[in-house]
Amino acid sequence: MTAQVISSINMKGGIGKTTLTVNLAASLARFHGKRVLVVDLDPQTNATFCLISRETWDKWIASKLTLADLMNQTDHSNLSRVEPKVQDAIIKNVGGINKLDLIPSHLKLTFIDISLSTAISRETILKRKLSKVLSEYDFIFCDCPPNLSLSTQNGLAASDYYIIPVFPEPLAALGLGLISNRIKQLNESLEKELLSLGIIYTKYDKRIKETEITSLEIIDANPQEYIFNTRIPENTKIKSAVRSSQPIIITNPKSSGSQAYKELAKEFLERIDKMNDSKASDLFI
Ligand SMILES: Nc1ncnc2c1ncn2[C@@H]1O[C@H](COP(=O)(O)OP(=O)(O)OP(=O)(O)O)[C@@H](O)[C@H]1O
Ligand SMILES: [Mg+2]
Repeated sequence: MTAQVISSINMKGGIGKTTLTVNLAASLARFHGKRVLVVDLDPQTNATFCLISRETWDKWIASKLTLADLMNQTDHSNLSRVEPKVQDAIIKNVGGINKLDLIPSHLKLTFIDISLSTAISRETILKRKLSKVLSEYDFIFCDCPPNLSLSTQNGLAASDYYIIPVFPEPLAALGLGLISNRIKQLNESLEKELLSLGIIYTKYDKRIKETEITSLEIIDANPQEYIFNTRIPENTKIKSAVRSSQPIIITNPKSSGSQAYKELAKEFLERIDKMNDSKASDLFI
């Protein structure tokens, strides 16, 4: 059994990508017994602090690795330098959930585009690192920053699938074309087939008419995309969960937000099964 790697991506900031990724990962581990790894690719370290406290992170970085250390390969002058091991960057059982692991991020990741500007195969560093632990997980989620930096490119290059969290507002559709263009280019240049699992609406407030109108416009403009039936509602309890460094499915399991993430995990498993089946049948054609 080998892990399926999924990136969560949208150029638009602050729409709930990280919260969705962390809670989907957490729900798969908690309710379905899946072995799940979250890789925080964003120098803002938001996924990291959704799952571990600042104190835990401080202690961790004093002796262990973050994603920034794993990715950094610039010290070519030091010939005796030992290649950092992915296993040394994995924090086990985070957010109060068994089988949910994390590779934390660090602000240093901001400089990676510059420090790796001349590195060979720089888009596939993460893919090579993760290949060492694929057999240990069912799913690996890459939480990407809201841009197309080298960090995001590494997440995409390491992935089999991607999901697109979308906040339904009039400008939302603009970035979607950019994502699919970039993925097309990446697929061509890396000779891979990264596939979309679909669009997931976040912070969905059905009381606001504009939300309904925009979500229909997005469906019309993206007929090729699967749109998840589960919509993550706007829910203030989701915001406060981060204070305890645990996902809302632990801090507030009865809330509407928590129920939605639980539903989403179920739909996600059905969707990925279908995609895997159609991939497999394509192989026989
Ligand atoms: N469904 C929701 N209801 C209410 N608040 C939410 C919801 N989802 C996320 N939030 C809050 O919105 C803010 C931004 O969320 P999050 O960090 O997940 O967005 P993001 O898209 O990953 O941001 P960035 O683009 O900076 O990475 C956070 O304060 C988070 O707690
Ligand atoms: Mg984020």
